[in-house]
Amino acid sequence: MAALRVTAQKLLQTNSAFSPLLAVPALSRACHHEPNFEYINVSKVGEKQNVGMIELNRPKALNALCDGLMAEVQTALKQFEADTDVGCIVLTGAGQKAFAAGADIKEMSGRQFQEVFGGNFLAHWSHLADTTKPVIAAVNGYALGGGCEIAMMCDIIYAGEKARFGQPEIALGTIPGAGGTQRLIRAVGKSLAMEMCLTGNPITAQEAQQAGLVSKVFPADQLVPEAVKTAEKIASHSKLVVAMAKEAVNASQEMTLREGLRFEKRIFHASFATNDRREGMAAFVEKRKADFTDS
Ligand code: HXC
Repeated sequence: MAALRVTAQKLLQTNSAFSPLLAVPALSRACHHEPNFEYINVSKVGEKQNVGMIELNRPKALNALCDGLMAEVQTALKQFEADTDVGCIVLTGAGQKAFAAGADIKEMSGRQFQEVFGGNFLAHWSHLADTTKPVIAAVNGYALGGGCEIAMMCDIIYAGEKARFGQPEIALGTIPGAGGTQRLIRAVGKSLAMEMCLTGNPITAQEAQQAGLVSKVFPADQLVPEAVKTAEKIASHSKLVVAMAKEAVNASQEMTLREGLRFEKRIFHASFATNDRREGMAAFVEKRKADFTDS
């Protein structure tokens, strides 16, 4: 697994030129630098090295999402968005005990209302949900509070057999603040979402799959390889059209059915303007493999 390592400093320099989908080649060259992340491991994986891997790696705190960790995740995401080779991203936790046990409670405990309201505390987490390339969350162990919320910001959630999903903020005297009361209900329905938010009780991987929060459950050691396999499949398609599909599916969360169907139809029509739509259909007719150019 050849590693792609990046320096946070170098990446920050690329921010102003960040292009969400089809970046200029100069940006992908910024990838080849020594590692300088404290809380995450970043690499490119897959046979064609076209899957971006972000591994949360703060084991002593069960990958609790301190400011530094989330800043690094944001930096790595921007880098992968700008890397024209990367077609899909996998987000996971190092080891099998935790994906992430939530926002860092120790870091949060001293904060005052004026500071969190005035500074829109943790608003920047939503960057993950705004990523144009697909992100697969591979969840082993605890995905609690902010951990469950960042998994839900991803496009697909796969779970290891021992994973636990929960919104325990109520026991800390607060409520979920990054989608736990909004994305969860859309995934599992009102009764279960309400039960989880009001009791703080977690659900198992199997319950999460049954409820629709998780699409597949694997033995813990197969979770990441399976997530990478799916990511490689996604990355084999046109990045341009994958981005269209992702945008259309996500639009359904925010639109009425009528608006959503119209939006979908327009994006479908727009795909006819791409070389990749022409190539995909021609390849089918000519009984050969499509050679997409992301154009
Ligand atoms: C800071 C944390 C942490 C967290 C665990 N740790 N979770 N530190 N923030 N969220 C630390 C512990 O303090 C401890 O370090 C070490 O990780 C191991 O944890 P233990 O509790 O000893 O492990 P265990 O007994 O196995 O219990 C695991 C656990 C428990 C059930 C996951 O750690 C737990 O309940 N954690 C808190 C989960 C939670 O409430 N999450 C929601 C956070 S609020 P030390 O050094 O002390 O031994 C949130 C809001 C999001 O996420 C809002 C977004 C906008």
